[in-house]
Amino acid sequence: MNTAENVATEAVNGTKVRSEQGSKPLDSDFETVGEVRVPNARMTATDVNVYYGDKHAIIDVNLDIGKNQVIAMIGPSGCGKSTFLRCLNRMNDTIDICRVTGEIKLDDQDIYDRKLDVVPLRAQVGMVFQKPNPFPKSIYDNIAYGPRIHGLVASRAELDEIVENSLAKAGLWDEVKDRLDQPGTGLSGGQQQRLCIARTIAVEPEVILMDEPCSALDPIATAKIEELIDELRENYTIAIVTHSMQQAARVSQRTAYFHLGNLVEVGETTQIFTNPRHKLTEDYITGRFG
Ligand SMILES: Nc1ncnc2c1ncn2[C@@H]1O[C@H](COP(=O)(O)OP(=O)(O)OP(=O)(O)O)[C@@H](O)[C@H]1O
Ligand SMILES: [Mg+2]
Repeated sequence: MNTAENVATEAVNGTKVRSEQGSKPLDSDFETVGEVRVPNARMTATDVNVYYGDKHAIIDVNLDIGKNQVIAMIGPSGCGKSTFLRCLNRMNDTIDICRVTGEIKLDDQDIYDRKLDVVPLRAQVGMVFQKPNPFPKSIYDNIAYGPRIHGLVASRAELDEIVENSLAKAGLWDEVKDRLDQPGTGLSGGQQQRLCIARTIAVEPEVILMDEPCSALDPIATAKIEELIDELRENYTIAIVTHSMQQAARVSQRTAYFHLGNLVEVGETTQIFTNPRHKLTEDYITGRFG
C-alpha cells in the first residue's frame, strides 16, 4: 500500500490526519485551495459554471487536467463531480435544461466553439460510465463500431488489428479472443467494463473520462480496472470520479475535492490525503461527512 492509500485508509477508519489546525480556510470560504494549473495541461477549464434550469450545479471552477496523469475527482453525493466531468466532452449538451458557461480547452481548441463538431470531440475525449453499457452487438463489433463510424480504417485487416490491440490494452484479449462473435452483453460485469474501456481506446482518444467505473464491480474486477488505469496513464490523460478514497489514492497523482458545486481543493494526491489544506477536505477524507 502506498503512503496516500495508507493514509486514505486510516482517514476513513478514523485515525487522525496530519494537519495544521487553526490555519485552515473556513467552511464557507470556497475559493479553491491549491494549484489549479499544471505545466503540462491537456485540458484547461476556466471560470466554468453549470446550471440545470435555476440550479447552479458548478460554480466558477478553474482546473487543469495534466497530460499523462490520472486526476481523481472526489466529494459528497450531489457536489457536481459527474456534472463537471461531463463538461469535458460536452456530454451535458444532451441534457436540455443544462447550460454551461466559461471556457474549456483541449490543448488549444475551445471545445465549446459553436463550429466544433462534438462527434469527433467525444472520440478525442472518451467516456466510461458507472454501469458497463456494451452495445447489443458482438464483442468484435463493440470495438469495431467506433473506428468504422469515424472512418479510421481502410481494410478488414486494419480493423482486426485495432480490435485486437484495443482488447489487449484493456487486458481483455486473452479472455475473449476465441469468442469475438459472441454478444458483448454475455460477458461478466468486470469484463463488460473492460470491453467499454477497449471500445473507448479503439478510437484513439487523448483523454479518458471515467465516472465511478468500478462501482458496479467486485474487488477482483476493480483491481483489474485499477491496474489498467495505471497502465493507460502512459499514453492517455485520465479523469476519474470515485467515491472510494482508497481508489483515488491508489490510481491518481492529483486529486480534486468538490463540495456543493465548488472546487474546494486540488493538489497532489499524497498531499490531499496526508495534509489537506481545507477544513472541508479534511472533514470529508476523515469521514466526518459524505
Ligand atoms: N439532469 C439533471 N437535471 C437537473 N439537475 C441535475 C441533473 N443532473 C444533476 N443535477 C443536479 O446537479 C447537482 C450535481 O449533480 P451531479 O450528478 O453532478 O453530482 P455528483 O457529485 O456526481 O453526485 P453522485 O456522487 O451522487 O454521483 C445535484 O444537485 C443534482 O441534483
Ligand atoms: Mg455522479
